[in-house]
Amino acid sequence: MIPVTKPHLPEMNRYLGYIVRCYKNCQLTNNGPLVQELKARLEGYLGVQNLLPVANGTLALQIAYRALGLSGKAITTPFTFVATSSSLRWEGIEPVFADIDGATLDLSPERVREVLDPDVTALVPVHVYGNPCDVEAFDGIAREHDLKVIYDAAHAFGVELNGRSVLEWGDAATLSFHATKVFHSVEGGAIVFKRREDYERACRLINFGYAEGKVIDEGINAKMSEFHAAMGLSVLDEIETVLQKRGEIHRRYYEALEDHFEMPAWGEGATRNYAYFPVLFSSESELLAVQRRLNEVGIFPRRYFYPSLDTLGPAGVCPVSRDRARRVLCLPMYPALPEDVLEKIISIMASSRRPWIRAVHPGRSSMEG
Ligand SMILES: Cc1ncc(COP(=O)(O)O)c(C=O)c1O
Repeated sequence: MIPVTKPHLPEMNRYLGYIVRCYKNCQLTNNGPLVQELKARLEGYLGVQNLLPVANGTLALQIAYRALGLSGKAITTPFTFVATSSSLRWEGIEPVFADIDGATLDLSPERVREVLDPDVTALVPVHVYGNPCDVEAFDGIAREHDLKVIYDAAHAFGVELNGRSVLEWGDAATLSFHATKVFHSVEGGAIVFKRREDYERACRLINFGYAEGKVIDEGINAKMSEFHAAMGLSVLDEIETVLQKRGEIHRRYYEALEDHFEMPAWGEGATRNYAYFPVLFSSESELLAVQRRLNEVGIFPRRYFYPSLDTLGPAGVCPVSRDRARRVLCLPMYPALPEDVLEKIISIMASSRRPWIRAVHPGRSSMEG
């Protein structure tokens, strides 16, 4: 079976080298030496400061909301993984869905303005598929209305915007290091804070509220263990190979399919990490027919992100998100994808549709890059 993604397993001896260190140190958790090394190396690699490793990307969001004192409502996108909005609900914050931009599939600043009300204390946009949001527009809205901005950057590991890490925008940006992500630590995540004091509060919050041996805050346990950091460090050692292989698969898909399928318009000045390869069909029935053909030969692409989250509850109706969620399919994308399978996927996809004339989206570059 060919899934949509498979974890990258680093060379075993490399991983064992880090595990031997865990055994020698006999410190398995509680901000041990490997977690500290991972933090320092990630800050260097990503070009950011105030990065806090945590147990997963969902807790990264929850801790960021707490550290920044969110309450009331937060505006977010319905076109994302369910954790973006369920993490808000778990913190007692009401998610309000605003619709997405039909070309980029990211949260639309214009639609955000339409649903602002006095109870809104924050924006939680998502860099969907690693495609940076309109960060300048969200910064502007936040300044005007005195809101916090937390970017869910679960898909955006290593992405840069105009030469700077996309994680530098917002009061905080969160990452997921789940096994299926471009960079992973089996389970894991991180928060990048703009301000040192928010980072320091979050350090307490992930450790039961402890600071200098005393409980001074209402915390929880969201610490990363040394064994998870060991996987993170060994994947980081191989990240350039991971990105190069993903980039090659992306190039092959793109060259073969660009004239057949609409694809999300990519942010001007943004690099990419090849986390996903999404294509848009002209209708849901066409998508389902092609998905069936792929399934028949053991290939299982995924409908990321379906359904649009505004269909699951009472919070807002977002027609653009609903339409794109019905028509988008992510093709298998992982470093070990076999060459013959890649060829087969391309051939089934390309033969399923005649080439089309692509729309030009002003101000946004194409999927190429
Ligand atoms: C957009 C988004 N946010 C949050 C998460 C949650 O991350 P984790 O699985 O590490 O808890 C994911 C996970 O895939 C995600 O895709």
